[in-house]
Amino acid sequence: MNYYDIDKQFTWHPFTQMQDWMRDDILMIERGDGVWLYDIHGNRYIDGVSSLWVNVHGHRKKELDDAIIRQLGKVAHSTYLGLAHPPASELAAELISIAPDSLRRVFYSDNGSTAMEIALKIAYQYWQQKDNGSEASRKKFIKFTNAYHGDTIGSVSVGGIDLFHKVYRDLLFDTIAAPYPYVYRHDEKNGPCGEYCLNELDAILEKQSGEIAAIVIEPEVQGASGMIMTPPGFMKGVEQLARKYGVLLILDEVATGFGRTGTMFAAEQENILPDIMAAAKSITGGYLPLSATLVSEEVFSGFLGGYEEQKTFFHGHTYTANPLACAVAIANLKLYKSDNIIQNVIARAEQAKKRFESFAELEHVGDIRQKGLMIGIELVRDKDTRQPYDWQEKIGVKVIEQARNHEIIIRPLGNVIVLMPPLCIAEDELNHLVDGTLQSIRKVTEK
Ligand SMILES: Cc1ncc(COP(=O)(O)O)c(C=O)c1O
Repeated sequence: MNYYDIDKQFTWHPFTQMQDWMRDDILMIERGDGVWLYDIHGNRYIDGVSSLWVNVHGHRKKELDDAIIRQLGKVAHSTYLGLAHPPASELAAELISIAPDSLRRVFYSDNGSTAMEIALKIAYQYWQQKDNGSEASRKKFIKFTNAYHGDTIGSVSVGGIDLFHKVYRDLLFDTIAAPYPYVYRHDEKNGPCGEYCLNELDAILEKQSGEIAAIVIEPEVQGASGMIMTPPGFMKGVEQLARKYGVLLILDEVATGFGRTGTMFAAEQENILPDIMAAAKSITGGYLPLSATLVSEEVFSGFLGGYEEQKTFFHGHTYTANPLACAVAIANLKLYKSDNIIQNVIARAEQAKKRFESFAELEHVGDIRQKGLMIGIELVRDKDTRQPYDWQEKIGVKVIEQARNHEIIIRPLGNVIVLMPPLCIAEDELNHLVDGTLQSIRKVTEK
């Protein structure tokens, strides 16, 4: 069977211009082992973006494979509407034990976008019920510039990446945009970046807090917009403003959660206590689709009442809390402890940081941003003026194509090269990834 022709004839890939895809060579992945992926010809590549920011312990991890097989021997799926099952119970208790202290309840779904969609609907309904359905209830959300919370309509509404979102503008609900600190591109005439952004947020809240249901934010790192990272104190400032004006704080930990930034959740870095938090991606170690929206007791109790009061949260998906996904998620969380994953992230992050000293000399590397093993290398046409490459030049795409020759799979975000390897990555494997990335950037940008 010629899988290439079949793919080109019958499939439609996400975030992909299919006209190019149907013309170009395709990399067809057949299997994985540890941090390596192998194509159908046996060529190997380091999984430099953890199969889209999900993989933690590597591919074909025995404990994870076994957890799924064990659960398969019991039941693959049983609905979570009106029924419960042991893996979902055990996982919920485990999630609450590792999440920020403010969070007490777990609502399952199956991907990051739905976890965020649910977070928004819960916040919205919470205020309606608290205000007894009053017209004056808090119905608006504050989002941040460049935000990305997924691809469903609600998640897109609180997003801010024009390239992905502008075509749907008429479908989206109204939001209020506050600036997210982009230190590298901030105009210093406005004062320090973090302070400037907090002042803007404060001004919005001072004027409109009575209409606002929640602030929605990616804590510490905006991933999809190009690994944009907050300066120290910023997240604490956001939390303080949420408390000052009595609005809910929703953290989107879909990308940052489960150790990527060097702590289990990015919220821990400044000890943030959210009202609602979305988690997905690495929750199953990169094995199966699962996500969770965690809420505080205060939010949860806003949905309690007599049947006739109709305060129920009327939301659910067919595969909510799929037992196989929950079983592998439990095994995944156990491995964080037994394999000292967070310690490995800290050690490898330190190693990467040292290795990046040599990148700084490259003529077209404008900024290197890193928190834990979330890394973005911003390429610029002119380092002195910080002038970006035109998007038509596809500089990021060229670099990642070149990287394939160095046995590396990575993905760019515009002009930003992203490195986000599996969290178990070993010292020599990380060196391989960094060396190949360095050579690829050099080859493409220094002609
Ligand atoms: C911060 C954040 N939120 C939400 C999502 C959406 O997750 P999913 O692709 O699983 O729907 C992503 C995906 O990259 C993300 O980075």
